[in-house]
Amino acid sequence: MKNYITTPIYYVNGEAHIGHAYTTFIADTLARYGRLKGEDVFFLTGTDEHGQKIEESAKKNGKSTKEFADEISATFRNLWDDFGISYDKFIRTTDDYHMQGVQHAFAKMYEKGDIYKGDYEGHYCVSCETFFPETQLIDGEFCPDCGRATSIVKEESYFFNLSKYEKPLLEYYESHPDFILPRSKRNEVINFVKNGLHDLSVTRTSFTWGVALPESFNDDKHVMYVWLDALLNYITALGYGKDEKDMGYWPAQMHLVGKDILRFHAIYWPAFLMSLDLPLPKHIGAHGWWTRDGEKMSKSKGNVVSPKEVSEAYGLENFRYFMLREVPFGQDGDFSQRAFIDRINSDLSNDLGNLLNRIIGMSGKYSEFHIDSVDVLKYHTKEINEANIILDSLDEYITNLQPHRYLEELWKLFSIGNKAIEEHAPWVKMKEDKKDEALATVALVANVLAKAAVALHPVMPNTTSTVADAFGFVIDSESYKAIVLEKALLKPFVIKQVPPLFPRVEEPLMQDNNAKEEASAVEVKAEPKKMEAKKETTVEGDNLIEIGQFFETALKIGTVLDATEVPKSKKLIQLRVDVGEEVPRQILAGIREFYSPEELINTQVCVVANLKPAKLMGLLSEGMLLAAKDEDGLCLIRPEKPRKAGTPIG
Ligand code: MSP
Repeated sequence: MKNYITTPIYYVNGEAHIGHAYTTFIADTLARYGRLKGEDVFFLTGTDEHGQKIEESAKKNGKSTKEFADEISATFRNLWDDFGISYDKFIRTTDDYHMQGVQHAFAKMYEKGDIYKGDYEGHYCVSCETFFPETQLIDGEFCPDCGRATSIVKEESYFFNLSKYEKPLLEYYESHPDFILPRSKRNEVINFVKNGLHDLSVTRTSFTWGVALPESFNDDKHVMYVWLDALLNYITALGYGKDEKDMGYWPAQMHLVGKDILRFHAIYWPAFLMSLDLPLPKHIGAHGWWTRDGEKMSKSKGNVVSPKEVSEAYGLENFRYFMLREVPFGQDGDFSQRAFIDRINSDLSNDLGNLLNRIIGMSGKYSEFHIDSVDVLKYHTKEINEANIILDSLDEYITNLQPHRYLEELWKLFSIGNKAIEEHAPWVKMKEDKKDEALATVALVANVLAKAAVALHPVMPNTTSTVADAFGFVIDSESYKAIVLEKALLKPFVIKQVPPLFPRVEEPLMQDNNAKEEASAVEVKAEPKKMEAKKETTVEGDNLIEIGQFFETALKIGTVLDATEVPKSKKLIQLRVDVGEEVPRQILAGIREFYSPEELINTQVCVVANLKPAKLMGLLSEGMLLAAKDEDGLCLIRPEKPRKAGTPIG
């Protein structure tokens, strides 16, 4: 099955914010999900670069329009590349093939009798690149979409015969109830069309930064209306009007858009396609808007959340999970660090991360990390059946574009795992000499987690690959088929001991003014251990670890060679620490409230030397200092007498 998924193409008048990241994350998730199912996916994203608004932004920045568009377009592309977005094509509306495709479409609409020349006088919003009828203006003057003042513009224009498509559009909505998702948005569109469609002005003479009319028109006064140009990207990307090499992907399975541009996609775009005699996309999914702490994001308020900063502070995959899980698709959502932290600590750290730790801990104790599914069905058909029912229900949530429901349901798998451990208490079975049963429960939980990891893969590709790797398999369409569709159980394997995947977060990691606030590396990293110990105590009745588990942490004596304050940070000190290796480590420690950099230089500290490197305030931290903190403050743990840098502790 061919599955063509698109994001809107983003205007190049400013850098990406979390609203853009949101659409792109959903599209990426759908694309990855399709590929897992073995579908032939084509995932398109790109930038929308023409129009007066871009021309003006370039001028403000003292750059040529093309130079400015090149720069901003690259920031989008680089961001998506940094984020590992799995797009198949990145289109720019300034690409030659696109402009030729647009001209081809324009000529075709003209041949069809859908384009004619006339005069247009109306209220025009420069920011939205749209004319509005007087009845829609706020106080007779202001744009109903963005609230900015409109101006009266009179110009010669070519028109698209939109009114002709009023009836066919209404019929189409009627016969395709899932064309617009969520369904709740459908009526809005229907009512708009029922109120009557005016013909659409599709060229402009007031600026030049746009696609020229086809040569055959011999009319260089006009450039194309940016929305006509932009919407056509969805077919020019497939080679429309050129070599048509990828047109087999048309019609699109899903155009993802924000609610503000639904009208363009659900009315104009289908009408253009009807005029071109092309089939209509299967679905248009319109999502809501993100606010920050309840307020609309805007540059002037300085509260725009940068996706890069969020990802650096909280981790890319946590970010993806949060955005998709937190807000029902179609509704507006609020980006609050509190809500984000709660999701990390509760869903990711407690439910998912802890389950993996428990499997590693128990299999380590009972079977030297060997896990074998041989007895799972003997003792646990009930749980396996429950898990399979959940897995079977998931696909529907993707089809209906409800990623939040998909995740909500998927999370029930972790409950099955955690509940099975509590109910069957393998540690009791071990004491009762029922090792088979104990091992069957551990294997059950491993299987449930493996299934969950495959299903979660489209949302959190890297983390779930780490889980699968620990379980000795790779997540791909084959393992999806075997583990999710055909309900296969895992072959015997030796589980790898991965460090906790989701360290708890205790306090916001970004500052309110949108500069990232660093959390104390010490507290954040140390917390998961405390939490697991607590969990083990309440459930298993002990919090003892094997000596081997202790030695998994590489503790070393370090000598501080250098220490400086991290600019803009209230908490962090950047240290260069000799831990007996060729190159000293860079370590960021959240101790500035308790130590000045000067008093640290040439002192010795205890370093956790095998922590995965982490980025804080954009700086790499390659270790953690041991410290103790109570109500009187924080103190570093140091050797009683000087020791050589790199001396192991233990
Ligand atoms: N260039 C047009 C789209 C053309 S598609 C043929 C455009 N670009 S945009 O950059 O302004 O917006 C791109 C997308 O970002 C839109 O879907 C819009 O809804 C979305 N968002 C912009 N701000 C947003 C939030 N605050 N929250 C969520 N999404 C938002 O429109």
